[in-house]
Amino acid sequence: MDISNELGKYSETIEEYLNEILPKSNSLQKRIFESMRYSIFAGGKRLRPFLILKTCEIFNGDYKEALPFAAAMEMIHTYSLIHDDLPCMDNDDFRRGKPTNHKVYGENLAILAGDGLLNFAYETMISHVFNTKSNSERYLKALKEISNAAGVFGMIGGQVVDIESEDSGIDQRALDFIHNNKTSALIEASIVSGAIIGGANDDEINLLRDYGKSIGLGFQIRDDILDKIGDMDKLGKDIGSDEDNHKATYVSLYGMDSSIEKSKELYNFAITSLNKFDKKNINILKELAYFLLNRDM
Ligand code: IPE
Ligand code: IPE
Ligand code: MG
Ligand code: MG
Ligand code: MG
Repeated sequence: MDISNELGKYSETIEEYLNEILPKSNSLQKRIFESMRYSIFAGGKRLRPFLILKTCEIFNGDYKEALPFAAAMEMIHTYSLIHDDLPCMDNDDFRRGKPTNHKVYGENLAILAGDGLLNFAYETMISHVFNTKSNSERYLKALKEISNAAGVFGMIGGQVVDIESEDSGIDQRALDFIHNNKTSALIEASIVSGAIIGGANDDEINLLRDYGKSIGLGFQIRDDILDKIGDMDKLGKDIGSDEDNHKATYVSLYGMDSSIEKSKELYNFAITSLNKFDKKNINILKELAYFLLNRDM
């Protein structure tokens, strides 16, 4: 199976769904709808929604009931990017191959568009719980997983330590805290929440959580590597941003060779967790691990 084709196929599905549900009207606040849509539809790999849909499908045979959660996760991720790019954060001008949200709409609207996407994510998930008569416990469990990962004990917590570690020498513990929270938390939650909605049992969820932690950390190490050696046209964002901001990254702390070595180690951990499954259709997650940890986009 060609993993980029597979990602492309699910991207189309998720984009159609997002287009259906994201607000667009001519009301007085229409500029925020435009700004939210600008960043959502600027592009992006749609990795996190892919993970939710795929893990749901692996256990359930169908991904449709996970669509509102996949869309919500992409909204949360996109809000985190809009805020991450602000002048008071990483101060970046390009994202997903286009000028960043604040460059087009101004900082005030960019902050509000991020807030709007975050809130709309929860509106979307909660409406789905209300509108679907069966499996509400699974949906609520998935909602808990996602909300914990997005908050101060997850992504936001990681972003705080990332910002506070600029210009200061930090140790491995602090660096892993940053990466595990700012990036890995949402990736792990995507994998686990999709599996919960699909009906995976606790043992299966634990194995997938281990897989998620490995590819999540590996994903951010690759992001650190690409910030040094990536191609801006492929990545769609500025290169060298970490160095400009004196960020603590795997590359700044350990150098390029050790960072590559570490990501290979994480790939092996990820595969070891998946090998404990006797499900055949889990193999797509192995291919995905390879793709993510060696990507150039
Ligand atoms: C970028 O995430 C931010 C990080 C967590 C490293 P992605 O590389 O998934 O960005 P998009 O969604 O494809 O734009
Ligand atoms: C961002 O990490 C993680 C989140 C947005 C939560 P980075 O700051 O390294 O991501 P990029 O490189 O700007 O995409
Ligand atoms: Mg950042
Ligand atoms: Mg950044
Ligand atoms: Mg980065």
